[in-house]
Amino acid sequence: MESMHRHEFEDCLPDGFDDYYRDQFEERWPQLLASLFEPSTRVDRLNLFYGPVLTPSTSRIDVSWSRNPAISHAFRPACALHDPRRDAHGLLESYRMDPASMIAASALEVQPGDRVLDMCAAPGGKALLLAESMGAEGRLVANELSPTRRAKLKTILQNYLPSERLKHIQVTGHDATRWGLHEPDYYDRVLLDAPCSSERHVLGKEKERARWKPGRSKQLARRQYALLCAALGACKPEGRIVYATCALSQLENDGVVERLLKRKGDQCVKWPTTFPEAFVEATEHGWRILPDHSDGWGPMYWSILHKQA
Ligand SMILES: C[S@@+](CC[C@H](N)C(=O)[O-])C[C@H]1O[C@@H](n2cnc3c(N)ncnc32)[C@H](O)[C@@H]1O
Repeated sequence: MESMHRHEFEDCLPDGFDDYYRDQFEERWPQLLASLFEPSTRVDRLNLFYGPVLTPSTSRIDVSWSRNPAISHAFRPACALHDPRRDAHGLLESYRMDPASMIAASALEVQPGDRVLDMCAAPGGKALLLAESMGAEGRLVANELSPTRRAKLKTILQNYLPSERLKHIQVTGHDATRWGLHEPDYYDRVLLDAPCSSERHVLGKEKERARWKPGRSKQLARRQYALLCAALGACKPEGRIVYATCALSQLENDGVVERLLKRKGDQCVKWPTTFPEAFVEATEHGWRILPDHSDGWGPMYWSILHKQA
């Protein structure tokens, strides 16, 4: 049975894909590959600004999967037939997203009053989380290079955040690779959710599968490194950066952080922390959630860096 499934997957894999990832994941690869073909399981994250006062009731929220207080307070399993409701101000009740993304964004630990930069923000699930945590006095710059994705980001922010919070958010459209030159040492928190090879997405779309090449990850890693250097430049001394991807490729994950630590290790260090969820796996320089070891969540990788004074 298992070999039949494997054969089915192999038929539609891009040339070289199987070997490339088998080298990295070894005996885990068949199971992981199978999990990538499963539909992703998302949850509905409740909008804290929805309604006059949103008091999450335990009946609508399943907190059983997480002991992490930063994220377990506001979600319920996604229900395919349920469209989110709007409150009297037109704000939507919930945003559907992968819990792995919630955990990665929460790792930035945005504090009330923080100045926050989300360098690659669209469509905006993580930006919503940052906008909630920064409080009434915080500031968020949500940047997105692609005009179409930026339009989507604006719509999402407007659909979920009250006007008082939106006044503290600026949506920009820069190429984030040069950010550090323009606003050096400026932000308390920087999220770099980098463009990446996003293998789960690639496998799900025939057009994307046709475009996959083994060298693609190397190219992306170069771009990610440039973006991460910009994140480091833009972050204040004593500030924090979360570098995240939804890639499986180690080159784009620990590989990028390794390069930064080797070349700019005098400017930043890894932030020592732990995650209570059993499905969060530690890697050499960060953490990851993969769908074969979780409830189908991820792939998501993140590393937390502290900029030295
Ligand atoms: C992984 S997605 C971000 C997902 C987003 N953080 C979220 O939670 O919804 C990466 C985004 O980076 C954008 N991007 C790619 N290159 C960029 C660049 N040089 N500067 C800014 N944004 C870029 C892409 O268009 C894409 O929307």
